Formats: sequence, C-alpha cells, structure tokens
Amino acid sequence: MALGGALSIFLSLCLLCLLIWIAWERTSKRGKLPPGPTPIPVLGNLLQVRTDNIFQSFLKLQKKYGPVFTVYFGPRPVVILCGHEAMKEALVDQADDFSGRGEMPTIDKNFQGYGLALSNGERWKVLRRFSLGVLRNFGMGKRSIEERIQEEAGYLLEEFHKVKGAPIDPTFYLSRTVSNVICSMVFGKRFDYEDKCFQNLMKMINDSFVEMSKPWAQLYDMFWRIMQYFPGSHNHLYDLLEELKDFITSRVKINEASFDPSNPRDYIDCFLIKMHQDKSDPNTEFNLKNLVLTTLNLFFAGTETVSSTLRYGFLLLTKYPEVEAKVYEEINQVIGTHRIPTVDDRAKMPYTDAVIHEIQRVIDVVPLGVPHNVIRDTHFRGYFLPKGTDVYPLIGSALKDPKYFRYPDTFYPQHFLDEQGRFKKNDAFVAFSSGKRICVGEALSRMELFLYFTSILQRFSLRSLVPPAEINITHRISGFGNIPPIYKLCFMAR
Ligand code: HEM
Repeated sequence: MALGGALSIFLSLCLLCLLIWIAWERTSKRGKLPPGPTPIPVLGNLLQVRTDNIFQSFLKLQKKYGPVFTVYFGPRPVVILCGHEAMKEALVDQADDFSGRGEMPTIDKNFQGYGLALSNGERWKVLRRFSLGVLRNFGMGKRSIEERIQEEAGYLLEEFHKVKGAPIDPTFYLSRTVSNVICSMVFGKRFDYEDKCFQNLMKMINDSFVEMSKPWAQLYDMFWRIMQYFPGSHNHLYDLLEELKDFITSRVKINEASFDPSNPRDYIDCFLIKMHQDKSDPNTEFNLKNLVLTTLNLFFAGTETVSSTLRYGFLLLTKYPEVEAKVYEEINQVIGTHRIPTVDDRAKMPYTDAVIHEIQRVIDVVPLGVPHNVIRDTHFRGYFLPKGTDVYPLIGSALKDPKYFRYPDTFYPQHFLDEQGRFKKNDAFVAFSSGKRICVGEALSRMELFLYFTSILQRFSLRSLVPPAEINITHRISGFGNIPPIYKLCFMAR
C-alpha cells in the first residue's frame, strides 16, 4: 500500500516535471517572442485572459508587458499588437511580412482556407485583386454605387414612414437595406424587405456575428482541438454558415442558368467568366469553392459591419441629442430639405463627417481586428517571430489610443475637427485596419455610412423611449465583435 502510494506520488512528480519541461521547451524555442505572462501547460494563459471580455484583458496585459506581447491561446502563442504605433510598424512598415491571415478556429471549418478573407498566399492575392477590381467597376457601370445606395436609402425611408413614429428595434430595418446594396452588386438584385428567405438570411448573419463574439467562441479559439468533438455553440455557428453557403450556391446556379459572358450582371457573373476562361488550368483559383466563399465573405461583411455601425450610431445620437441637432443643422445648410444627399456633400459637411468617424471609433465594431499571420521569419522591434506566428492587431487599442485621442473613452466628435471646425484626419483611425489586408469594403462603407446617416436625419428626428441620461451605450457582448445593446427608438417624420 505504502509502496503503491509512493509510486503514484513519484509518477505524478514525473508527469509534472514533464509538463513543465514541455512548457519551458516551447517558450525557450520561441525565446525571441515578445514577453508575456507565463503560460501553464495545456491551458496556456487562460487564467490571465477573460473570455467574457478578452479585449479588456489584453489592455490589462499591455500595461504590464508593453504594446507588443505574447499570450498563449492554449498551446498556441499569439502576438498581440496594441496602440497605433505598434500596429503601424507591423501592418504598414512591414506590410508584406504581416500580410498572412491567422487562424480563426470558430469559422475555419466552414472556409478551409478558401475565399478572400481567410485565404493566404497566391490564392489570397488573386482573389483580392480580382474582387477589388470588380467592386470598383460596378461603380462605373450603368448605375453608380452611389445611386444604388441612394435608391436603397429611399426604400428604407418609406419603411420608416409606414410605422408613423411608433417605437421600433432598428436592427433588421438597417440590415435589410444595407445588405441590399451588396446584394445588388454580388447577386445583381435587391430583395423585397418582406421576402421571408431574405429576412431569414439577415437573422442568420446577425446570429453568426453574435455567436462569434460570445465568450464561448473565445474559448473555442483556444481549445478547438478538444472542443470540436463536443456539443456547443460552435456547432450552431457552423450550421448557420453552412446554410448561408447553400444560399450562395443556389444563387450561383441561378446565374449559371442565364449566364451571358458578353453581359456580366454582377460579381458572380464576372467570376464565372474567369472560371470559363481558366477551365483548362488545373491550378486556377477561379473555381466554385472560391466563388461561393468569397461571395459569402462579401455578403456577410457587407451586411453586418455597416448595419451594426448604423444601429450603434443611432443609439449614440439618441444619447447625445445635441450632436444630432448639429448634424441636422449642417444637413439643412448644405443639402436643404428637398434634394437627396450625395457623396460630394461630405466634403462640405465636416461636422457630420467627424460624427461618423467618432461613431466608428467609439463603437469599434471589430475590437480585436481579424488575426494576421507572419508569412516568413520576421524580426520586429528586437523580437523574432517565426514564420506562421499568429498576430492580433488590436484595432480597438488604436481607436482608443490616448496619444492620439484626447478623451479616448468619450464620444467627442471634436476628435476629428480642428480649431476652425474643419475635418481633421487622425492616423490612429484604423476602423478598417491598415496595410495589405485593409478592408476591401472601406470606400463602399464610407459612402453608405454618410448617405444613410444624412438621408435618415434629413427626414426624421430620433426619439428615445428613455431620457438620454439613462441610455446605456455599453456593448451587450464584446468579443470578436462589439455588439450593441438591444433597444427601440422612434423615427419621427420632420
Ligand atoms: C463599417 C464597415 C466595415 C468595417 C469597420 C470593416 C472592418 C474590417 C476589418 C477590421 C477587416 C480586417 C482587416 C485585416 O485583416 O487587418 C476587414 C476585412 C475585410 N472586409 Fe471589411 N469592414 C467593413 C465593411 C465591409 C464591407 C461593406 C465589405 C464588403 C464589400 C467588407 C469586406 C471585407 C473583406 C472581404 C475583408 C477581408 C480582406 C482580406 O482579407 O484581404 N467589409 N474589414
């Protein structure tokens, strides 16, 4: 008995030594990685990183270890970049080194390295060049992107008129209208707001973004190798994305049935033309998988980010009615009440432009950024990042960088205005990220945000159901995305 007890103590000690040795080996081999909290075997830095507010945990670690540090997601080291300067040095000054896409275990199973947003190497280069070109050309075709947005904003205003100032949750009003802009570009058609299938797609996109941002998803990012075999929210997210994929596949079939290479109607047609041209090339990236998954990237990103920004933006404007009043005053002066807003008006509306930038800065839609990866062995700030190391550029930490913003945690449109009230650019405004992976939809989003905010505020004033002081603007969920609180408001016709 005594011998058995001693033996199990001895074996436990051996096991402990082995685990410590493995951890030490791992850290010493990667000895030139930036500093960070000591990981423990298997769990990594789980004890230092709160999965229910991972962004705040990183800010806390930044105070101790500086703007560049390493944390272990389970066994996997990840380098975190905080603040504008560290992010710029990596993503812009060493743009090529940091241009890879990092692991995103919650959705990698759906994409498997295909599609623009999650691919790497030659595949990513080809898909990015092609997609940027097509999106730009669709602005130069028969109808400009501006016209598409103006038309769609018109439909939204009609919907608001129909509810006659009754309180509404704006979520799906905004996602349907914004989504229709990208739908008209990728599918060549807009959907009726009452279309049940379209409504279901909007709900699936919204639910997926929420799922990706829950604590569960952050835990999955760390321990997916084990968690993938168990039931949980990740399976729900997987199913949602598979259903969205099925929808895109069905749209591709519809396009194929009436395809005319001499008259491309949308993004899918342009991709099909390339597929036909390259059909004898076994190595081409123009294949069905990349078509479906890149279209899904555009459809998803083109819907959720802009509509979340508008939804969160209206919440902020109800909290600060004096800001809404000043935007309206500028609309009145520059555009008036009769004609619809145009993109050219923006240059004459510095206050409105500053408010939109400040909304994007404060709400910080993608606080952790989208993970990057170094595509070769990389020397950075005296550290050594072996090829394949994942890197998180914490966009939120640049947007709240106290060196660049006077009141980082306050909604203060003057952050983007000079003494004379002219619009003032701020280099730390990186809501769309920077460098080679910078958001493909930046120009489109900026147009949409300006045209939607001005078109809506030109015709409607906002009325909150509670006094401004009681409006809660803290994120309901903060993870991959910052999700706004659920709220209702009234759009009162002017
Ligand atoms: C307010 C609106 C938006 C915000 C804040 C936003 C933000 C971002 C961010 C932070 C990234 C990651 C960049 C990186 O890897 O460093 C990104 C990538 C991307 N965005 Fe957006 N986005 C917005 C709208 C859009 C729209 C409208 C589209 C569709 C046209 C879009 C399509 C994409 C795509 C395809 C990528 C992946 C680019 C790549 O991997 O090369 N985004 N976006």
